[in-house]
Amino acid sequence: MRSQVQEIDRFLEELYLKFGLDFRGYSKPSLYRRVSRFLSENKLSSDPAAWIEVFEKDGFLDRFLQQVTVNYSEMFRDPKFYSAITKDIIPYLATFPSVRIWVPGCAAGEEAYSFAIMLKEAGIYHKCTIYATDIDPHCLQMARKAIYPLDMLRTYSRNYLLAGGKEDFSTYYTANYGYAQFDKSLSERIIFASHNLVSESAFNSFQLISCRNVLIYFGRELQEMVLDNFNRNIEGSGYLCLGSRETIQFSGIKNQYKQISDQKIYKKIYL
Ligand SMILES: C[S@@+](CC[C@H](N)C(=O)[O-])C[C@H]1O[C@@H](n2cnc3c(N)ncnc32)[C@H](O)[C@@H]1O
Repeated sequence: MRSQVQEIDRFLEELYLKFGLDFRGYSKPSLYRRVSRFLSENKLSSDPAAWIEVFEKDGFLDRFLQQVTVNYSEMFRDPKFYSAITKDIIPYLATFPSVRIWVPGCAAGEEAYSFAIMLKEAGIYHKCTIYATDIDPHCLQMARKAIYPLDMLRTYSRNYLLAGGKEDFSTYYTANYGYAQFDKSLSERIIFASHNLVSESAFNSFQLISCRNVLIYFGRELQEMVLDNFNRNIEGSGYLCLGSRETIQFSGIKNQYKQISDQKIYKKIYL
């Protein structure tokens, strides 16, 4: 009898062959747990013929992405990270006539809107473009709407204050029927788009790439490939930001960057 791990590997292989959706390089233990839950919730047996039937149903891929990727995020998640951005990076960004920022793995837009608020408060948002991308179309749909459950707002506004936010946080949204609708002016300079870090390379040259709490779900080899792609798309002297449990230390790009704060903020250096 096939073990469950073999069954999941086979399922991931089929997913790749049929849709080009490649989860094979993700970090295994947590991916296996989530795929296994997806298989049992969708009553998928170990028989590949049954998978094909489900693969062909409308919405299968979106449902799979929604259930298998981890989408948790917060506005101003890790407030110290955002105060470090204000102190160390915004003065650098302010020197450019136009600023390009990429936020890959943006989930439902929480991180992109946090940047928008900080850049606005620093008076430079009008000359910035934030490319906020994710693999999950459901997340992107939510991100474009900029609507968040009201019960998350207590956390967001506490984070905002700890990050050094200058305004009354409630000026950025209107509360309505259990939801907070964020101000349309915040999304003016954000482009939300679908992008898969595993199979698509980047498309621009950025002064800042902030990819936080995404690489942690990837295996080493995949992290190395994605970091190399980031490196090729960060301008000389630009910045790379990662999540608190992520690092470039093991990677081939480590000698081209200097960590500039106790947050995972790396500055590209000329060699
Ligand atoms: C835990 S969330 C991180 C959200 C935000 N960056 C933060 O730090 O709060 C991880 C996000 O990465 C996205 N993701 C996972 N695999 C991806 C891939 N191959 N390409 C692009 N995004 C991916 C998921 O859909 C999810 O929205």
